[in-house]
Amino acid sequence: MPRTRKPAEKSAKAAAEPAGIKYRIRTVDLFDLPVDLYACGVFRGARFEHDLIGREARKVLSARRFKGEPGESFYHVFSHEGGLLPVLFVGLGDKRQFSPRAVRHAAHTAAAEAAGRAAARLALDFINHGEFPFTLAEGVQSVVEGVELKLYQFNACFSQPKPAAALEAVDLVYRGARGMSTGAIERGRAFARATALARDFVNTPPSDFTPAVMASEAEKIAREGKLACKIYDEKGLAELKAGGILTVARGSHEKPRLIHLKYSPKGKPRGVVALVGKGLTFDAGGLDIKTADGMLTMKCDMAGGAAVLGAMKLIGELGSDHEIHGIVASTENLLGGGAYKPGDVIRSMAGKTVEIHNTDAEGRLILMDGITFAQKQGATTVIDIATLTGAVVVALGELVAGFYSNDAGLAGQLLKAAERSGERYHQLPLVPEYRRKLDSKIADLKNIGNRWGGSISAAVFLQQFVDEKTAWAHLDIAGPAFMDGAMEDFPAGATGFGVRTLAELFTHR
Ligand code: BES
Ligand code: MN
Ligand code: ZN
Repeated sequence: MPRTRKPAEKSAKAAAEPAGIKYRIRTVDLFDLPVDLYACGVFRGARFEHDLIGREARKVLSARRFKGEPGESFYHVFSHEGGLLPVLFVGLGDKRQFSPRAVRHAAHTAAAEAAGRAAARLALDFINHGEFPFTLAEGVQSVVEGVELKLYQFNACFSQPKPAAALEAVDLVYRGARGMSTGAIERGRAFARATALARDFVNTPPSDFTPAVMASEAEKIAREGKLACKIYDEKGLAELKAGGILTVARGSHEKPRLIHLKYSPKGKPRGVVALVGKGLTFDAGGLDIKTADGMLTMKCDMAGGAAVLGAMKLIGELGSDHEIHGIVASTENLLGGGAYKPGDVIRSMAGKTVEIHNTDAEGRLILMDGITFAQKQGATTVIDIATLTGAVVVALGELVAGFYSNDAGLAGQLLKAAERSGERYHQLPLVPEYRRKLDSKIADLKNIGNRWGGSISAAVFLQQFVDEKTAWAHLDIAGPAFMDGAMEDFPAGATGFGVRTLAELFTHR
Protein backbone atom coordinates (compact mmCIF):
# COMPACT_ATOMS: atom_id res chain seq x y z
CA MET A 1 0.00 0.00 0.00
CA PRO A 2 1.61 3.33 -0.99
CA ARG A 3 2.47 5.58 1.91
CA THR A 4 2.38 9.25 1.12
CA ARG A 5 2.84 10.62 4.60
CA LYS A 6 4.91 9.58 7.56
CA PRO A 7 2.51 8.98 10.41
CA ALA A 8 4.27 9.97 13.62
CA GLU A 9 5.12 13.63 12.95
CA LYS A 10 1.71 14.73 11.81
CA SER A 11 -0.22 13.55 14.83
CA ALA A 12 2.28 15.05 17.25
CA LYS A 13 1.46 18.44 15.74
CA ALA A 14 -2.24 17.77 16.08
CA ALA A 15 -2.08 17.54 19.87
CA ALA A 16 -3.79 20.56 21.38
CA GLU A 17 -1.75 23.09 23.32
CA PRO A 18 -3.39 24.52 26.44
CA ALA A 19 -5.23 27.66 25.38
CA GLY A 20 -3.57 29.68 28.13
CA ILE A 21 -6.65 31.59 29.30
CA LYS A 22 -6.27 33.09 32.78
CA TYR A 23 -9.14 32.24 35.11
CA ARG A 24 -9.85 34.22 38.24
CA ILE A 25 -12.57 34.22 40.84
CA ARG A 26 -14.00 37.71 41.42
CA THR A 27 -16.46 39.12 43.91
CA VAL A 28 -16.69 42.66 42.48
CA ASP A 29 -19.67 44.55 41.10
CA LEU A 30 -20.61 44.54 37.44
CA PHE A 31 -19.30 47.89 36.30
CA ASP A 32 -16.05 47.55 38.25
CA LEU A 33 -14.92 44.76 35.98
CA PRO A 34 -13.13 45.91 32.84
CA VAL A 35 -14.57 43.20 30.60
CA ASP A 36 -15.53 42.95 26.93
CA LEU A 37 -18.46 40.72 27.68
CA TYR A 38 -20.36 40.01 30.86
CA ALA A 39 -22.40 36.81 30.69
CA CYS A 40 -25.26 36.57 33.16
CA GLY A 41 -27.23 33.41 33.87
CA VAL A 42 -31.05 33.59 33.98
CA PHE A 43 -33.21 30.72 35.23
CA ARG A 44 -36.45 29.86 33.44
CA GLY A 45 -39.31 31.91 34.80
CA ALA A 46 -37.16 33.49 37.53
CA ARG A 47 -37.14 37.23 38.32
CA PHE A 48 -33.78 38.73 37.36
CA GLU A 49 -32.29 40.48 40.38
CA HIS A 50 -29.44 42.96 40.28
CA ASP A 51 -28.75 46.16 42.26
CA LEU A 52 -27.42 48.14 39.31
CA ILE A 53 -29.07 46.80 36.18
CA GLY A 54 -31.95 44.76 37.61
CA ARG A 55 -34.78 47.14 36.64
CA GLU A 56 -33.63 47.81 33.12
CA ALA A 57 -32.64 44.20 32.60
CA ARG A 58 -36.09 42.96 33.61
CA LYS A 59 -37.66 45.37 31.10
CA VAL A 60 -35.39 44.23 28.28
CA LEU A 61 -35.75 40.55 29.16
CA SER A 62 -39.52 40.76 29.10
CA ALA A 63 -39.60 42.86 25.90
CA ARG A 64 -37.45 40.18 24.26
CA ARG A 65 -39.70 37.47 25.72
CA PHE A 66 -36.61 35.83 27.17
CA LYS A 67 -37.58 32.53 28.75
CA GLY A 68 -34.32 31.36 30.30
CA GLU A 69 -34.24 28.12 28.30
CA PRO A 70 -30.87 26.34 28.03
CA GLY A 71 -29.06 27.55 24.91
CA GLU A 72 -31.14 30.76 24.77
CA SER A 73 -29.15 34.00 24.90
CA PHE A 74 -29.20 37.65 23.92
CA TYR A 75 -26.85 40.60 23.98
CA HIS A 76 -27.58 44.07 25.37
CA VAL A 77 -25.35 47.00 26.34
CA PHE A 78 -26.16 48.72 29.64
CA SER A 79 -24.93 52.13 30.78
CA HIS A 80 -24.44 53.27 34.32
CA GLU A 81 -22.77 56.49 35.51
CA GLY A 82 -21.05 56.95 32.17
CA GLY A 83 -19.78 53.37 32.00
CA LEU A 84 -20.90 50.88 29.35
CA LEU A 85 -21.34 47.21 30.03
CA PRO A 86 -21.97 44.68 27.23
CA VAL A 87 -24.06 41.90 28.77
CA LEU A 88 -24.98 38.51 27.39
CA PHE A 89 -27.99 36.94 29.08
CA VAL A 90 -27.79 33.17 29.01
CA GLY A 91 -30.66 30.82 29.80
CA LEU A 92 -29.94 28.29 32.55
CA GLY A 93 -33.19 26.33 32.31
CA ASP A 94 -35.15 25.05 35.30
CA LYS A 95 -33.59 26.12 38.60
CA ARG A 96 -34.59 22.85 40.30
CA GLN A 97 -32.78 20.89 37.61
CA PHE A 98 -29.67 23.06 37.58
CA SER A 99 -26.76 20.72 36.92
CA PRO A 100 -23.09 20.74 35.96
CA ARG A 101 -24.27 20.09 32.40
CA ALA A 102 -26.44 23.24 32.44
CA VAL A 103 -23.48 25.26 33.75
CA ARG A 104 -21.18 23.86 31.10
CA HIS A 105 -23.73 24.56 28.40
CA ALA A 106 -24.09 28.18 29.54
CA ALA A 107 -20.30 28.59 29.53
CA HIS A 108 -20.30 27.21 25.99
CA THR A 109 -22.84 29.77 24.88
CA ALA A 110 -20.87 32.60 26.47
CA ALA A 111 -17.54 31.44 25.06
CA ALA A 112 -19.04 31.19 21.57
CA GLU A 113 -20.39 34.74 21.81
CA ALA A 114 -17.06 36.00 23.19
CA ALA A 115 -15.21 34.34 20.30
CA GLY A 116 -17.67 35.82 17.79
CA ARG A 117 -17.09 39.30 19.20
CA ALA A 118 -13.31 38.79 19.50
CA ALA A 119 -13.60 39.57 23.22
CA ALA A 120 -10.37 39.31 25.17
CA ARG A 121 -11.93 39.50 28.64
CA LEU A 122 -15.02 37.58 29.59
CA ALA A 123 -16.86 37.53 32.91
CA LEU A 124 -19.18 34.65 33.76
CA ASP A 125 -21.93 35.06 36.31
CA PHE A 126 -23.56 31.62 36.45
CA ILE A 127 -22.88 30.35 39.95
CA ASN A 128 -22.97 33.69 41.68
CA HIS A 129 -25.07 32.98 44.72
CA GLY A 130 -24.06 29.45 45.41
CA GLU A 131 -27.58 27.99 45.48
CA PHE A 132 -27.37 24.82 43.46
CA PRO A 133 -27.56 21.08 43.99
CA PHE A 134 -23.89 20.37 43.25
CA THR A 135 -20.65 21.41 44.85
CA LEU A 136 -19.08 24.75 44.11
CA ALA A 137 -15.97 22.93 42.88
CA GLU A 138 -18.13 21.01 40.39
CA GLY A 139 -19.68 24.27 39.20
CA VAL A 140 -16.31 25.96 38.70
CA GLN A 141 -14.86 22.93 36.94
CA SER A 142 -17.87 22.84 34.62
CA VAL A 143 -17.53 26.52 33.70
CA VAL A 144 -13.86 26.10 32.85
CA GLU A 145 -14.51 22.94 30.82
CA GLY A 146 -17.32 24.68 28.97
CA VAL A 147 -15.14 27.62 27.91
CA GLU A 148 -12.09 25.54 27.03
CA LEU A 149 -13.99 22.91 25.06
CA LYS A 150 -16.00 25.48 23.13
CA LEU A 151 -12.76 27.01 21.90
CA TYR A 152 -11.43 23.64 20.70
CA GLN A 153 -10.53 23.50 17.01
CA PHE A 154 -8.79 20.87 14.92
CA ASN A 155 -6.50 22.87 12.67
CA ALA A 156 -3.66 20.46 12.05
CA CYS A 157 -4.58 19.83 8.40
CA PHE A 158 -5.00 23.40 7.09
CA SER A 159 -2.11 24.70 5.00
CA GLN A 160 -2.35 28.17 6.59
CA PRO A 161 -2.22 28.61 10.38
CA LYS A 162 -5.49 29.79 11.96
CA PRO A 163 -5.45 33.00 14.04
CA ALA A 164 -5.35 32.28 17.77
CA ALA A 165 -8.52 32.91 19.78
CA ALA A 166 -8.76 36.41 21.25
CA LEU A 167 -9.89 35.31 24.69
CA GLU A 168 -7.23 35.99 27.33
CA ALA A 169 -8.95 36.19 30.68
CA VAL A 170 -12.11 34.77 32.21
CA ASP A 171 -13.46 36.09 35.51
CA LEU A 172 -15.80 33.83 37.46
CA VAL A 173 -18.10 36.09 39.43
CA TYR A 174 -19.02 34.68 42.80
CA ARG A 175 -20.51 36.20 45.94
CA GLY A 176 -21.82 33.09 47.69
CA ALA A 177 -21.00 31.96 51.19
CA ARG A 178 -19.40 28.65 50.33
CA GLY A 179 -15.60 28.69 50.20
CA MET A 180 -14.19 28.86 46.69
CA SER A 181 -11.54 26.37 45.61
CA THR A 182 -9.12 27.40 42.90
CA GLY A 183 -8.12 23.72 42.50
CA ALA A 184 -11.36 23.29 40.59
CA ILE A 185 -10.05 25.66 37.89
CA GLU A 186 -6.98 23.49 37.34
CA ARG A 187 -9.14 20.37 37.35
CA GLY A 188 -11.38 21.89 34.68
CA ARG A 189 -8.40 22.81 32.53
CA ALA A 190 -6.91 19.32 32.89
CA PHE A 191 -10.24 17.70 31.97
CA ALA A 192 -10.58 19.93 28.92
CA ARG A 193 -6.99 19.25 27.83
CA ALA A 194 -7.43 15.48 28.01
CA THR A 195 -10.73 15.72 26.14
CA ALA A 196 -9.10 17.86 23.44
CA LEU A 197 -6.30 15.32 23.11
CA ALA A 198 -8.81 12.51 22.57
CA ARG A 199 -10.59 14.71 20.00
CA ASP A 200 -7.30 15.29 18.19
CA PHE A 201 -6.64 11.55 18.05
CA VAL A 202 -10.07 10.90 16.53
CA ASN A 203 -10.01 13.88 14.15
CA THR A 204 -6.57 13.02 12.75
CA PRO A 205 -6.96 11.49 9.26
CA PRO A 206 -7.00 7.70 9.47
CA SER A 207 -3.84 7.10 7.42
CA ASP A 208 -2.01 9.39 9.86
CA PHE A 209 -3.40 7.72 12.95
CA THR A 210 -2.59 4.04 12.62
CA PRO A 211 -2.27 1.49 15.42
CA ALA A 212 1.49 2.21 15.54
CA VAL A 213 0.80 5.94 15.98
CA MET A 214 -1.81 5.26 18.61
CA ALA A 215 0.74 3.17 20.51
CA SER A 216 3.39 5.89 20.35
CA GLU A 217 0.84 8.47 21.59
CA ALA A 218 0.11 6.14 24.52
CA GLU A 219 3.83 5.91 25.27
CA LYS A 220 3.99 9.70 25.31
CA ILE A 221 1.10 9.92 27.77
CA ALA A 222 2.81 7.31 29.94
CA ARG A 223 6.11 9.22 29.96
CA GLU A 224 4.45 12.50 30.94
CA GLY A 225 2.17 10.96 33.55
CA LYS A 226 4.42 8.42 35.24
CA LEU A 227 2.38 5.49 34.01
CA ALA A 228 3.86 2.11 33.17
CA CYS A 229 3.45 1.28 29.49
CA LYS A 230 3.84 -1.89 27.50
CA ILE A 231 3.06 -2.23 23.81
CA TYR A 232 2.43 -5.64 22.25
CA ASP A 233 3.13 -5.82 18.52
CA GLU A 234 2.24 -8.70 16.20
CA LYS A 235 4.80 -10.97 17.81
CA GLY A 236 3.68 -10.10 21.34
CA LEU A 237 0.05 -10.56 20.33
CA ALA A 238 0.87 -14.03 18.97
CA GLU A 239 2.48 -14.94 22.30
CA LEU A 240 -0.68 -13.71 24.06
CA LYS A 241 -2.76 -15.82 21.64
CA ALA A 242 -4.84 -12.71 20.88
CA GLY A 243 -6.70 -14.40 18.03
CA GLY A 244 -9.39 -11.72 17.79
CA ILE A 245 -7.03 -8.78 17.35
CA LEU A 246 -4.71 -10.68 15.00
CA THR A 247 -7.60 -11.88 12.85
CA VAL A 248 -9.20 -8.47 12.33
CA ALA A 249 -5.79 -7.02 11.43
CA ARG A 250 -5.18 -9.51 8.65
CA GLY A 251 -6.82 -7.40 5.93
CA SER A 252 -4.41 -4.50 6.41
CA HIS A 253 -0.74 -3.72 5.91
CA GLU A 254 -0.81 -1.81 9.18
CA LYS A 255 0.20 -4.07 12.03
CA PRO A 256 -2.00 -4.26 15.14
CA ARG A 257 -1.04 -3.23 18.66
CA LEU A 258 -2.26 -3.96 22.14
CA ILE A 259 -1.57 -0.96 24.37
CA HIS A 260 -1.27 -1.48 28.10
CA LEU A 261 -0.90 1.50 30.44
CA LYS A 262 -0.85 1.07 34.20
CA TYR A 263 -1.34 3.55 37.02
CA SER A 264 -0.27 2.45 40.50
CA PRO A 265 -1.36 4.48 43.55
CA LYS A 266 1.06 5.33 46.34
CA GLY A 267 -0.54 3.17 49.04
CA LYS A 268 -2.38 -0.10 48.84
CA PRO A 269 -4.90 0.15 45.96
CA ARG A 270 -8.57 0.31 46.88
CA GLY A 271 -9.31 -1.91 43.92
CA VAL A 272 -7.97 -3.01 40.57
CA VAL A 273 -9.76 -1.50 37.59
CA ALA A 274 -9.31 -1.88 33.84
CA LEU A 275 -10.54 0.48 31.14
CA VAL A 276 -10.63 -1.31 27.79
CA GLY A 277 -10.98 0.73 24.60
CA LYS A 278 -11.78 -0.16 20.99
CA GLY A 279 -8.96 1.39 18.96
CA LEU A 280 -10.12 0.49 15.45
CA THR A 281 -8.24 3.18 13.55
CA PHE A 282 -10.28 2.64 10.39
CA ASP A 283 -13.30 0.41 9.85
CA ALA A 284 -14.02 -0.30 6.19
CA GLY A 285 -16.12 -3.26 7.29
CA GLY A 286 -13.74 -5.88 5.95
CA LEU A 287 -15.04 -8.15 3.16
CA ASP A 288 -18.56 -7.33 4.39
CA ILE A 289 -17.72 -3.86 3.15
CA LYS A 290 -19.56 -0.78 4.33
CA THR A 291 -21.37 1.62 2.01
CA ALA A 292 -19.50 4.80 1.03
CA ASP A 293 -21.70 6.81 3.41
CA GLY A 294 -21.23 4.34 6.22
CA MET A 295 -17.46 4.33 5.79
CA LEU A 296 -16.91 8.08 5.50
CA THR A 297 -16.59 8.78 9.23
CA MET A 298 -15.02 5.49 10.26
CA LYS A 299 -11.80 7.12 11.42
CA CYS A 300 -13.93 7.61 14.54
CA ASP A 301 -13.87 3.90 15.31
CA MET A 302 -10.95 4.34 17.72
CA ALA A 303 -12.87 6.85 19.85
CA GLY A 304 -13.28 4.35 22.70
CA GLY A 305 -9.53 3.79 22.73
CA ALA A 306 -8.93 7.55 22.58
CA ALA A 307 -11.25 7.98 25.57
CA VAL A 308 -9.22 5.43 27.52
CA LEU A 309 -5.98 7.25 26.67
CA GLY A 310 -7.48 10.62 27.66
CA ALA A 311 -8.79 9.21 30.94
CA MET A 312 -5.41 7.58 31.71
CA LYS A 313 -3.71 10.94 31.10
CA LEU A 314 -6.02 12.51 33.70
CA ILE A 315 -5.53 9.64 36.12
CA GLY A 316 -1.75 10.10 35.81
CA GLU A 317 -2.06 13.86 36.39
CA LEU A 318 -4.61 13.87 39.20
CA GLY A 319 -3.99 10.55 40.92
CA SER A 320 -6.36 7.83 42.07
CA ASP A 321 -6.59 5.40 44.97
CA HIS A 322 -7.20 2.54 42.53
CA GLU A 323 -4.74 0.54 40.46
CA ILE A 324 -5.90 1.33 36.95
CA HIS A 325 -5.07 -0.47 33.73
CA GLY A 326 -5.68 1.35 30.45
CA ILE A 327 -5.93 -1.20 27.66
CA VAL A 328 -6.48 -0.38 23.99
CA ALA A 329 -6.79 -2.98 21.24
CA SER A 330 -5.79 -1.22 18.02
CA THR A 331 -6.11 -2.43 14.42
CA GLU A 332 -7.57 -1.50 11.07
CA ASN A 333 -10.42 -3.48 9.48
CA LEU A 334 -9.71 -3.55 5.73
CA LEU A 335 -10.14 -5.86 2.75
CA GLY A 336 -6.61 -6.87 1.78
CA GLY A 337 -5.87 -10.30 0.31
CA GLY A 338 -5.19 -11.74 3.74
CA ALA A 339 -8.46 -10.46 5.17
CA TYR A 340 -10.55 -12.76 7.37
CA LYS A 341 -13.66 -14.18 5.74
CA PRO A 342 -17.26 -14.86 6.62
CA GLY A 343 -17.30 -18.52 7.62
CA ASP A 344 -13.88 -18.43 9.28
CA VAL A 345 -13.60 -19.75 12.80
CA ILE A 346 -11.15 -17.98 15.07
CA ARG A 347 -9.83 -18.67 18.56
CA SER A 348 -9.93 -15.92 21.18
CA MET A 349 -7.33 -15.28 23.88
CA ALA A 350 -9.75 -16.89 26.31
CA GLY A 351 -9.75 -20.07 24.20
CA LYS A 352 -13.37 -19.74 23.04
CA THR A 353 -13.94 -20.19 19.30
CA VAL A 354 -15.96 -17.72 17.23
CA GLU A 355 -17.52 -18.31 13.83
CA ILE A 356 -17.44 -15.16 11.71
CA HIS A 357 -20.81 -14.29 10.20
CA ASN A 358 -20.01 -10.68 9.41
CA THR A 359 -16.55 -9.15 9.18
CA ASP A 360 -18.02 -5.72 10.01
CA ALA A 361 -18.79 -6.93 13.55
CA GLU A 362 -15.06 -6.63 14.29
CA GLY A 363 -15.13 -4.46 17.40
CA ARG A 364 -16.35 -7.26 19.65
CA LEU A 365 -13.56 -9.50 18.32
CA ILE A 366 -10.81 -7.16 19.43
CA LEU A 367 -12.60 -6.25 22.67
CA MET A 368 -13.07 -9.88 23.69
CA ASP A 369 -9.29 -10.23 23.80
CA GLY A 370 -8.95 -6.86 25.55
CA ILE A 371 -11.39 -7.98 28.25
CA THR A 372 -9.57 -11.29 28.72
CA PHE A 373 -6.25 -9.45 28.94
CA ALA A 374 -7.74 -7.06 31.53
CA GLN A 375 -8.85 -9.91 33.77
CA LYS A 376 -5.42 -11.53 33.42
CA GLN A 377 -3.99 -8.34 34.92
CA GLY A 378 -6.07 -8.95 38.03
CA ALA A 379 -8.78 -6.38 37.31
CA THR A 380 -11.96 -7.08 39.27
CA THR A 381 -13.74 -4.09 37.70
CA VAL A 382 -13.67 -3.85 33.89
CA ILE A 383 -15.20 -1.06 31.85
CA ASP A 384 -15.01 -1.33 28.10
CA ILE A 385 -15.80 1.60 25.83
CA ALA A 386 -16.38 1.35 22.10
CA THR A 387 -18.10 2.72 19.01
CA LEU A 388 -19.58 -0.74 18.74
CA THR A 389 -22.92 -0.71 16.93
CA GLY A 390 -25.01 1.38 14.58
CA ALA A 391 -27.99 -0.13 16.38
CA VAL A 392 -27.34 1.89 19.54
CA VAL A 393 -27.41 5.08 17.46
CA VAL A 394 -30.80 4.06 16.05
CA ALA A 395 -32.01 3.49 19.61
CA LEU A 396 -30.59 6.52 21.44
CA GLY A 397 -29.43 9.00 18.80
CA GLU A 398 -26.30 11.14 18.79
CA LEU A 399 -26.41 12.65 22.26
CA VAL A 400 -26.73 9.55 24.40
CA ALA A 401 -24.48 6.54 24.89
CA GLY A 402 -25.88 3.12 25.75
CA PHE A 403 -24.41 1.17 28.60
CA TYR A 404 -24.76 -2.30 30.04
CA SER A 405 -23.61 -3.71 33.35
CA ASN A 406 -23.72 -6.93 35.32
CA ASP A 407 -23.24 -4.98 38.56
CA ALA A 408 -25.78 -2.53 39.98
CA GLY A 409 -23.15 -0.83 42.17
CA LEU A 410 -20.89 -0.09 39.21
CA ALA A 411 -23.85 1.08 37.10
CA GLY A 412 -24.81 3.51 39.89
CA GLN A 413 -21.27 4.88 40.18
CA LEU A 414 -21.12 5.38 36.44
CA LEU A 415 -24.37 7.34 36.40
CA LYS A 416 -23.16 9.49 39.30
CA ALA A 417 -19.89 10.25 37.51
CA ALA A 418 -21.88 11.10 34.38
CA GLU A 419 -24.00 13.51 36.41
CA ARG A 420 -20.78 15.45 37.08
CA SER A 421 -19.32 15.16 33.59
CA GLY A 422 -22.61 16.05 31.92
CA GLU A 423 -22.27 13.15 29.49
CA ARG A 424 -25.46 11.17 28.95
CA TYR A 425 -25.61 7.41 29.39
CA HIS A 426 -28.73 5.29 29.29
CA GLN A 427 -28.71 1.79 30.69
CA LEU A 428 -29.90 -0.96 28.35
CA PRO A 429 -30.62 -4.53 29.40
CA LEU A 430 -28.37 -7.56 29.11
CA VAL A 431 -30.99 -10.05 27.96
CA PRO A 432 -29.72 -13.57 28.79
CA GLU A 433 -32.21 -15.17 26.38
CA TYR A 434 -30.45 -13.41 23.48
CA ARG A 435 -27.36 -15.54 24.06
CA ARG A 436 -29.13 -18.08 21.83
CA LYS A 437 -28.91 -15.66 18.91
CA LEU A 438 -25.15 -16.19 19.05
CA ASP A 439 -25.30 -19.99 18.80
CA SER A 440 -23.08 -21.34 16.01
CA LYS A 441 -23.42 -24.73 14.35
CA ILE A 442 -19.68 -25.29 14.27
CA ALA A 443 -18.08 -23.14 16.97
CA ASP A 444 -18.64 -21.89 20.55
CA LEU A 445 -20.45 -18.80 19.29
CA LYS A 446 -20.87 -16.61 16.23
CA ASN A 447 -20.08 -12.93 16.07
CA ILE A 448 -23.54 -11.52 15.23
CA GLY A 449 -27.16 -12.12 16.17
CA ASN A 450 -30.16 -11.36 13.96
CA ARG A 451 -31.19 -7.86 12.90
CA TRP A 452 -33.07 -6.98 16.12
CA GLY A 453 -31.48 -5.57 19.25
CA GLY A 454 -28.03 -5.36 17.66
CA SER A 455 -26.49 -3.34 20.48
CA ILE A 456 -27.77 -5.83 23.07
CA SER A 457 -26.52 -8.89 21.23
CA ALA A 458 -23.10 -7.21 20.90
CA ALA A 459 -23.09 -6.63 24.67
CA VAL A 460 -24.18 -10.23 25.33
CA PHE A 461 -21.36 -11.37 23.04
CA LEU A 462 -18.82 -9.42 25.13
CA GLN A 463 -20.36 -10.75 28.34
CA GLN A 464 -19.30 -14.28 27.29
CA PHE A 465 -15.73 -13.17 28.01
CA VAL A 466 -16.43 -11.62 31.43
CA ASP A 467 -15.90 -13.76 34.55
CA GLU A 468 -18.88 -13.93 36.84
CA LYS A 469 -16.95 -12.34 39.70
CA THR A 470 -15.87 -9.35 37.55
CA ALA A 471 -17.92 -6.15 37.89
CA TRP A 472 -18.26 -5.12 34.26
CA ALA A 473 -19.75 -2.27 32.30
CA HIS A 474 -19.86 -1.88 28.53
CA LEU A 475 -20.26 1.62 27.08
CA ASP A 476 -21.45 1.77 23.47
CA ILE A 477 -20.56 5.30 22.38
CA ALA A 478 -21.21 4.95 18.62
CA GLY A 479 -23.71 7.84 18.79
CA PRO A 480 -21.98 10.60 20.78
CA ALA A 481 -18.36 9.88 19.79
CA PHE A 482 -18.53 11.77 16.51
CA MET A 483 -20.86 14.45 15.10
CA ASP A 484 -21.61 15.10 11.43
CA GLY A 485 -22.33 18.71 12.42
CA ALA A 486 -22.14 20.64 15.70
CA MET A 487 -24.94 19.63 18.07
CA GLU A 488 -25.69 21.00 21.56
CA ASP A 489 -22.34 21.01 23.40
CA PHE A 490 -20.66 18.82 20.81
CA PRO A 491 -18.51 20.25 18.00
CA ALA A 492 -18.58 18.80 14.49
CA GLY A 493 -16.27 15.80 14.34
CA ALA A 494 -14.79 14.18 17.42
CA THR A 495 -16.32 14.94 20.82
CA GLY A 496 -13.89 13.21 23.20
CA PHE A 497 -16.90 11.47 24.72
CA GLY A 498 -16.09 9.19 27.65
CA VAL A 499 -12.84 10.81 28.79
CA ARG A 500 -14.40 12.95 31.50
CA THR A 501 -16.83 10.37 32.88
CA LEU A 502 -14.13 7.70 33.16
CA ALA A 503 -11.82 10.18 34.87
CA GLU A 504 -14.60 11.37 37.23
CA LEU A 505 -15.10 7.76 38.25
CA PHE A 506 -11.57 7.16 39.43
CA THR A 507 -9.59 10.36 40.07
CA HIS A 508 -9.14 12.05 43.45
CA ARG A 509 -11.31 15.08 43.95
N1 BES B 1 -17.78 0.65 13.98
C1 BES B 1 -19.05 0.08 13.67
C2 BES B 1 -20.20 0.70 14.47
C3 BES B 1 -20.50 2.16 14.25
C4 BES B 1 -21.56 2.54 13.44
C5 BES B 1 -19.77 3.15 14.89
C6 BES B 1 -21.86 3.88 13.28
C7 BES B 1 -20.08 4.48 14.71
C8 BES B 1 -21.14 4.84 13.91
C9 BES B 1 -19.03 -1.42 13.95
O1 BES B 1 -17.81 -2.04 13.78
C10 BES B 1 -19.97 -2.05 12.99
O2 BES B 1 -19.71 -2.00 11.83
N2 BES B 1 -21.05 -2.63 13.50
C11 BES B 1 -22.02 -3.26 12.68
C12 BES B 1 -22.40 -4.57 13.33
C13 BES B 1 -23.25 -5.45 12.47
C14 BES B 1 -22.45 -5.98 11.29
C15 BES B 1 -23.77 -6.61 13.31
C16 BES B 1 -23.23 -2.35 12.58
O3 BES B 1 -23.59 -1.72 13.59
O4 BES B 1 -23.76 -2.22 11.48
MN1 MN C 1 -17.47 -2.66 11.81
ZN1 ZN D 1 -16.14 -0.89 14.00
